Amino acid sequence: MELRHLRYFAMVAEERNFSRAAERLHIAQPALSRQIQQLEELLQVELLQRTTRSLELTEAGRFFYGHAVQLLAQSSDIVSMTRRIAKIERKFGIGFVGSTLYGLLPEIVRRFKAEHPDMEVTLHEMTTVEQIQALKDGVIDVGIGRIRREDPNIRRILLREEKLIAGLPMGHPLAFLDRGLHLRELVNETLIVFPKTPRPSFADQVLSGFHDRGLEPAAIIEVRELQVAMGLVAAGMGVTVVPKSVLGLKRADVCYKLLDEVNLVSPIIMSIRAQDHSADIKSFLELTYGLYRSEGIPHTEESLYTQ
Ligand code: BEZ
Repeated sequence: MELRHLRYFAMVAEERNFSRAAERLHIAQPALSRQIQQLEELLQVELLQRTTRSLELTEAGRFFYGHAVQLLAQSSDIVSMTRRIAKIERKFGIGFVGSTLYGLLPEIVRRFKAEHPDMEVTLHEMTTVEQIQALKDGVIDVGIGRIRREDPNIRRILLREEKLIAGLPMGHPLAFLDRGLHLRELVNETLIVFPKTPRPSFADQVLSGFHDRGLEPAAIIEVRELQVAMGLVAAGMGVTVVPKSVLGLKRADVCYKLLDEVNLVSPIIMSIRAQDHSADIKSFLELTYGLYRSEGIPHTEESLYTQ
């Protein structure tokens, strides 16, 4: 069986019509019919139920279609990943979630560019889920996110776990306390969380922080992104919980307080293509670990070659 058989069958299954499928595949209809017949002979299974009026998938056809689509997606991933790893062009794409911009990302990018002056480095703001597809498509080489997302073609490296802080409107009574805050002190407030979609997201890490302690905020507002959450806090609409690195986002109208809670953290996770052991990835990872060490930032270290 050839990949061609899978591609042809998937198209017929999607179109439920031989002539439309042939048109989309840019082949003649009789040739397409022969290929599908050949596939059914090879499998010794009927995949399609043909009547004069319609074309339906048999139960075996539905099963075969589900797996064919996965295999086709994997085969296109292999092509783009291999091209990217071969790196004929000197390009390095970094996908990141917005909140990492306020932490070490700018410094890491500056250092990486200085170490690789001939490299075209590009930055792409995207969610963790989008990073996985962008890695497969070869749009980016590393993704920096906060959500643990399983994918057999992607390797995740936990870089560190960041503490969380509360963002309060200026003049809020809790802002005057000379100590860290507890989540229970925020339950009577309107909690502003982000991003609203896609889920799970950082919003769910914050909400789990409350739920794990048996707490439920009085009201919740979900917004698109961190900047909107901070703006609403400044406007006195509620309070928010953000990673500690957001301290780097200095706003005169928002007050930050450390959250004094055990195990209330948000991970910073680096995603790469599973078999990508290229020198550029190694250099990015080592540079990050080097910065953590020199700044005394608690973190975990993993070798690129352990998987
Ligand atoms: C960090 O904040 O730890 C970080 C941000 C971007 C890339 C790598 C690490």
